[in-house]
Amino acid sequence: MRNPLQQYGDHPPSVSEITPREVFESRRDFMRQLAVGSIASASLVEMASREAFAQATGGQKLAAMVNPAFVVMDKKTTYKDATSYNNFYEFGTDKADPAETAGSLKTRPWTITIEGEVKKPITLDIDSLLKLAPLEERVYRLRCVEGWSMVIPWIGYSLSNLLKKVEPTGNARFVEFISLADKRQMPGVNSRVLQWPYTEGLRMDEAMHPLSLLALGMYGEVLPNQNGAPVRLVVPWKYGFKSAKSIVKIRLTKDQPRTSWNLSAPDEYGFYSNVNPEVDHPRWSQASERRIGEDGFLSRKRKTLMFNGYSEVASLYSGMDLRKNY
Ligand code: MTE
Repeated sequence: MRNPLQQYGDHPPSVSEITPREVFESRRDFMRQLAVGSIASASLVEMASREAFAQATGGQKLAAMVNPAFVVMDKKTTYKDATSYNNFYEFGTDKADPAETAGSLKTRPWTITIEGEVKKPITLDIDSLLKLAPLEERVYRLRCVEGWSMVIPWIGYSLSNLLKKVEPTGNARFVEFISLADKRQMPGVNSRVLQWPYTEGLRMDEAMHPLSLLALGMYGEVLPNQNGAPVRLVVPWKYGFKSAKSIVKIRLTKDQPRTSWNLSAPDEYGFYSNVNPEVDHPRWSQASERRIGEDGFLSRKRKTLMFNGYSEVASLYSGMDLRKNY
């Protein structure tokens, strides 16, 4: 993506809620104690480190049933990597910025409004959203358009649950997702790096596909702010920028919505943005990816899969030229 090195001018990022170093250190001690014990299997260590982290940070637990139909077998990215290497331009353009500055985001109270081409527009608070459908844990691959990827255990449910509730009219052909853009809480919104609010969109059938996830948590907890708290989208067969964070509005529309990255660089970021190893970004290849947390030469050679490996979505695009509709 573009990195115009914009400065924050008069609005330096708030550092009031950066995770204290003791938290990381107590976590490291805990890991060390575990490692010398007899129960240091990889998954137990990961689970325990997550527990220690949650206890130390106060990260609120979120119970969910694993849905095996939506679990990829790849090794999961560590919680630390997934929460410290982020794209969330409302909090700055460097990967480390969101973890450092998103503490200023107030995620409660929070409402999300669903409106537009619907029979029953609705505004819901987070508690109602948490109860709208049974929470599932799903392990998805996330492929960023920049060429890196992660594997994340999200918590949420199919977006279709929410869309059905508002009863789309026959005119609803697209869904627009609008993120919060509040200069007081989000230092990056003072810059002109993108047009705010961050806006994304899907075609109605894409939005209704069971893989399209409305996420409220990850790694057994509510979403950390830097990952898009309190509610975000996850569309695993598309480049990560399609998955809007910290959503406040969902609008069903007749016409294809304009989207932030498309407005910023239409030749580089199309409306569809399906993961496609055969269609390169104008400035780099999309044939392979770097899995965050994997070291060495081989990590850069991981082949990118068509639709990020989610071949079940292929029928949504039958008859379409995916080079043209990038
Ligand atoms: N949503 C908002 N509102 N603002 C953003 O800058 N970045 C996108 C997407 N959603 C972004 C966003 C990009 S480019 C990616 S790759 C993913 O969020 C990254 O999600 P993660 O930081 O949780 O891995």
